[in-house]
Amino acid sequence: MPEEILLMDKITKVYPNGFVANKDVTFSINKGEIHALMGENGAGKSTLMKILFGIEPFEEGRIVLKGKEVRFNGPLDAIANGVGMVHQHFMLVPSLTVAENVVLGMEPKKGGMFDFEEAVRLTEEACNKYNLKVDARAKVEDLPVGFKQKVEIVKALVRGAEILILDEPTAVLTPQETAELFVELKHLKEQGHTIVFISHKLHEIKELCDRITILRLGKSVGKANIADVTEADISRMMVGRDVVLKVEKTPAKPQETVLKVRDLRIVADTGKPIVNDISFSVRKGEILGMAGVEGNGQSQISEAITGLLSYQQGSISVNGVDLKGKKIREIRELGVSHVSEDRNTYGAALVSSVKDNILSDRYYKKEYNKGLLFDDKKINEMTDDLIKEFLIKCDDRDDQVKMLSGGNVQKVVVAREFSNKPALVIANQPTRGIDVGATEFIRKRLVELRDEGTAVLLISADLNEVLELSDSLIVMNEGKIAAYLPDASVITDMILGEYMLGVKTQTPEEIARVAYD
Ligand SMILES: Nc1ncnc2c1ncn2[C@@H]1O[C@H](COP(=O)(O)OP(=O)(O)O)[C@@H](O)[C@H]1O
Ligand SMILES: [Mg+2]
Repeated sequence: MPEEILLMDKITKVYPNGFVANKDVTFSINKGEIHALMGENGAGKSTLMKILFGIEPFEEGRIVLKGKEVRFNGPLDAIANGVGMVHQHFMLVPSLTVAENVVLGMEPKKGGMFDFEEAVRLTEEACNKYNLKVDARAKVEDLPVGFKQKVEIVKALVRGAEILILDEPTAVLTPQETAELFVELKHLKEQGHTIVFISHKLHEIKELCDRITILRLGKSVGKANIADVTEADISRMMVGRDVVLKVEKTPAKPQETVLKVRDLRIVADTGKPIVNDISFSVRKGEILGMAGVEGNGQSQISEAITGLLSYQQGSISVNGVDLKGKKIREIRELGVSHVSEDRNTYGAALVSSVKDNILSDRYYKKEYNKGLLFDDKKINEMTDDLIKEFLIKCDDRDDQVKMLSGGNVQKVVVAREFSNKPALVIANQPTRGIDVGATEFIRKRLVELRDEGTAVLLISADLNEVLELSDSLIVMNEGKIAAYLPDASVITDMILGEYMLGVKTQTPEEIARVAYD
């Protein structure tokens, strides 16, 4: 008989701004299971877990842990009761070693001094016990994300976590790292730990989890044994309809070269080259995917192209025009659109309205001005048309963008960036962290743009996304192109993973094929 270890019973959570993020949510997990928590972005998953971990208060309901009602006054309290959490954004001190991070706040002492060797011993002991391979003496800042995550897990375990909450742990991992994490999580489960696993990836849930609870718009809408449901069932419960994540597309018909990047070199303030003499081209009517673990130069490349970052060497041109020394607006006027990975800093002005966000790249244009004044009627029409066309869920055009869900914020960005007949779109993580519906919509629009003759550079750490959308692919590893794969339709995520992790690299001749004239 499964034993219920935790019950969150009829939880209601209202944020200070009045937003009801959880409404009467009931969430029950059994001892020793891996329980998936799923739902579109904004469904309230992180909120529910923050409540459990004691970092968000709640208005109604109760939490019952091992038959006893509890209410944690913060993470320390939660940890003391055996509940640990690994957040979407790691909370480690980069300049410290793994061992120092693991024992932070519970440092072993010898003669009143911090006992580093004992910290290493404790860390190694935990790593061995739980079969997590991390170097206790390594500095956290030198570790790849996959290892940072392990450090977070070890940290929770040495503090006695029996229930471990993992909030979208695989979002930042390669397939190989994900596979490794799954082995470790299954091992933890065998040792009697209980795991709550949040992910948007249906196949991961199918592979790893025992049961699933699904949230939709702050309510729990279903739970099931994983074995009893198909991926289609799950996605139906999540969005209330069938989602086709496959994007229909015909083979590309690439035409002349639009973007030409040659011998681009970008060096960090520290003197370390981040982008190392790379050359590639993107043609009219094709989507070139750029795959890679984040932090291998992709973001810097997109910022260099769009004028946000200066570069030391090489050249970038769009339709034959050299971009060197050009201002951001001049580059945009050449038809370059940019969906930034950081939508809250570069993409959208959160305190501004939907209308002002859309207007921000075109307010000065003749068609929206009448003499010295704005042509309000025209601007309003244009905005309302885009709200409709891009299915932006808001009450009206004057809504502040920060009141919208992540998926809708991104639709505002995309509405602005895709609606100017761009010659080139740089789309950096265009669907990261947003719900299935918005993701599907944005992907379709990218393919439509391609069919209308736009050149698209798609940068994404989501392998399904790059594989699904790209016509051809380059893979980045440590600031270099590790591979050029002209036909994306024959590539698997395992092949990509090998190039991403630097296990394999093509010859310079093979890579040079992507530098079209
Ligand atoms: N501090 C906050 N104040 C107001 N609203 C918030 C806050 N944090 C999250 N929300 C809103 O609550 C909803 C649920 O968010 P979240 O729990 O992060 O969803 P999920 O993790 O399922 O994507 C979202 O619409 C989000 O915008
Ligand atoms: Mg979340």
